[in-house]
Amino acid sequence: MEVIILPSKEKVVKLAASLIDMELRRNPRLVLGLATGRTMESLYAELVRRHKEEGLDFSLCQTFNLDEYIGLSKNDPHSYHYYMHHHLFNHINIDKRNIHIPNGLAPNLDEECCRYEYEIKKAGGIDFQILGIGEDGHIGFNEPLSALLSRTRVKALSPLTIAQNAPLFGSKEAVPKRVITMGVGTILESKRCVLIATGKHKAKIIAKSVEGPITSMISATALQLHTRCTVIVDDEAAKSLENRDYYQWLFENEPEWEPFKSILNE
Ligand code: GLP
Repeated sequence: MEVIILPSKEKVVKLAASLIDMELRRNPRLVLGLATGRTMESLYAELVRRHKEEGLDFSLCQTFNLDEYIGLSKNDPHSYHYYMHHHLFNHINIDKRNIHIPNGLAPNLDEECCRYEYEIKKAGGIDFQILGIGEDGHIGFNEPLSALLSRTRVKALSPLTIAQNAPLFGSKEAVPKRVITMGVGTILESKRCVLIATGKHKAKIIAKSVEGPITSMISATALQLHTRCTVIVDDEAAKSLENRDYYQWLFENEPEWEPFKSILNE
């Protein structure tokens, strides 16, 4: 795992977008794993800008979203299907046949989960997975106690996640209680993963995820097992990390990051 601490949310988004941009230009058939949540909104706005102003081409790429609420229709403004079209897909040149999001209205949800895993395999696996983090440490919707080898399946949301997402729904009662989510094991199989987090409300969970012991109580700790995982955080989300100077030193001295430093100084 590597940890990159940047001075602002804007720079976190810029670096994450630059990594996706680089991978997509290298491999136009990239299989991209996508996340939702407030943190991702500015990342998608930046990808849309790069598509419109810098010719970033999504025409051959495939996408797989991490999760979806059960019981919401695709047109429901709270569904992740709607979210993704609203923030990203409607504004880029992706082939709609290459978009994959779990169907939370499937008549047989277990079959839907198996189908989703099969589609990921058929695509050759996820090349680049972007992740956010919930305040209880979930990645996707892998709530506390999720098996570290879990696959795509139905999960119940934790009270903390319901409270965290309630403002988006107007009340706690309106938040669906169950979801379909890729498993922790599914996420760990991605070839590269990048987790982004910003703001002081993420500081404690980032410290536990990066520096704490691996535990199914905090799904994000499983990322310590991933062979190519980068955590990019702003100063506020990095506040509780004990080894900030060490992460900074590694970032300064790792040649891989050299080309990105000029972008970050802009
Ligand atoms: C939801 C998503 C997660 C995401 C989280 C972060 O719970 N299922 O994949 O990481 O939101 O949300 P936010 O960026 O709004 O803090």
